[in-house]
Order: sequence, then C-alpha cells, then structure tokens
Amino acid sequence: MLQDSVEMSEYFLFEGLRMPPILTNVETLCFAREEFLVRDDDVIILSYPRSGTHWIIEIIGLIYFNGDPTWIQTVPIFLRSPWIEDAHLQKDLVNQNGPRLMVSHLPVQLFPRSYFSCNAKVVYILRNPKDILTSLYHISRGFLCKKQPETFDEFLNRFMEGDMHYGSWFDHTLGWIKKRDMGSFLLIFYEELQRDPRASVEKICQFLGKKLKPEEIDLVIQNSSFSAMKENTMSDHFAIHSNLQKAIISPTLRKGVSGDWKNHFTVAQSEDFDRLFQEKMSSLDPGLFPWF
Ligand code: A3P
Repeated sequence: MLQDSVEMSEYFLFEGLRMPPILTNVETLCFAREEFLVRDDDVIILSYPRSGTHWIIEIIGLIYFNGDPTWIQTVPIFLRSPWIEDAHLQKDLVNQNGPRLMVSHLPVQLFPRSYFSCNAKVVYILRNPKDILTSLYHISRGFLCKKQPETFDEFLNRFMEGDMHYGSWFDHTLGWIKKRDMGSFLLIFYEELQRDPRASVEKICQFLGKKLKPEEIDLVIQNSSFSAMKENTMSDHFAIHSNLQKAIISPTLRKGVSGDWKNHFTVAQSEDFDRLFQEKMSSLDPGLFPWF
C-alpha cells in the first residue's frame, strides 16, 4: 500500500530509476510488469510526465460521450483513467470489467509484459522536452517533500543526466518510439494538438473507432480547452487526489503554452540541450519531431 505519511522522501529507486512514492511503490511496480493483464479492448494513454497526459484523458473522455462534458465534470480525472502504477487504484483496474481507459508514465522496460502480445490501443503523447523540463521545474517547486530547492540550472543538469521521476526523457521516448510499429499505437504531439486541435481530435476518433459529427468534435475541442479544463475541478488531479493534495501545492494545469522554455533557458543551455538531443536521438529520423 501507499505509505500514509506523505512526509515521505521525494523518490525511491526502482531498477535504477527515480519513482514517485506519492503515487506508487515497489510491490505495485512489480505487479504492473509481471502480473497486470492488459486486454485487447483496453485503451492506454502513455507519456513521460508533463507531456499533456491530462489533456488527452479529457479529450478521450469527451470523445466517449460525443462531446458531452457531464462525465468529465462529475468524475475525478484519476478515476476516469487510473494510472496502472497507482498503488491505490491498480486493484480496481484489475477487477474492472469491460473496456478500460488507463494511463501510465512507465518506461518500456517496466511496462506490463502482457501488453506486448495483445492488441490494446495506445495513445502516446509527446512534447518538446524543453517545455517538459520547464513544466517539471515549476511543479517540482511545489513538492512539499522536496528537501532542497534547486536552481533552474541544477534542475536542467539533472534532467539532461536522466535523473528524474520515471528516468531519462531520452530513454523513455526512444524506448516507446521504437515500439510504435507494433500494432495499435497512435503518436500525438502536444504542439500539433495545440496548433490544430481538430486534426488531432479527428485522428484520435478514427483511432478509437468513434464517428463524431462535426458539431460534436467542436464540443470536444471547447470542453477540453485550457480554460475549460482549468474551470473543471474534476481535472485538477493534484488538488483532488487525497495523497497528491497533501504532497503537491502546484496546480496540474500551469500555463498550457508551447515555447515557455525560451523564458528559462540561456542560449548556452539551449545549445547544450540541442547537442545532447541530437546525440541521444540520432537513431531516429530528425523529421519525426516538430520542435527543432
Ligand atoms: P505546463 O506546465 O507547461 O503548463 P501532464 O498532463 O502530462 O502532467 O502535462 C501537464 C502539462 O500539460 C502542463 O503544462 C499543463 O498546463 C498542460 N496542459 C494540460 N491541459 C492542457 C490543455 N487543455 N491545453 C494546453 N495545455 C494543457
């Protein structure tokens, strides 16, 4: 079980990766990988933290109900789509009948093994890692369990070394991108979702086999906009989850823009980051990513 005391440490190590004790524990992670059965009719949202996960949960919840916001406005976001590695909710997922909607930030090597031989659908959201880092830096300042405040530069170095919750963004992304041809896998970019929400929402509908009328797509877009989500108290995960609310004082939704990293990185930091990006991601087609 998740520890009751939230005066817990900031992280624990699991197979060399920092993991968040406010969400998960060793027993839950072992069960997730070895015993959790992913089913063919599951839909799984996958991401590295701060990539736009909650946005996708909101969009899919709206698509399920043809744009009607009643469900998303009455059911907490973490119950609509529980995290596979959530120590409190994993058992409920195991016992849930019928098609499940669930989320995970787990890297490939910690993900349920059963997924790799089934036909579950995965929606994988990717975001410019410089914006992810910036977003993480801000929320980390609201972690009550954080012993030492870090400067942006210290945080940046730790991100570049991969010493973050769920490990390195580079390893996480490479691991999942390499699996994208294995079946039902939809790649969505945060920046494209922002630039042309209709195109991305239509892609998700098609992927899920849901036919929505144009006016229903409009409702999905309106009800999942940044301002609509800010107003929806059921979507502020950190504020409504009983453990997270004791541990984090930052809001789940912060700025909701692309390019905020430019307000934080120096030119030299940005150049160092770009060099590392090119080195780490050299095995992938550079045209894949819409950021640089
Ligand atoms: P910022 O901190 O840059 O604002 P995740 O859901 O994976 O934790 O990602 C959180 C990030 O997605 C936050 O980024 C949050 O503001 C942004 N986000 C959530 N909902 C959004 C929406 N409807 N439109 C734009 N950005 C959104």
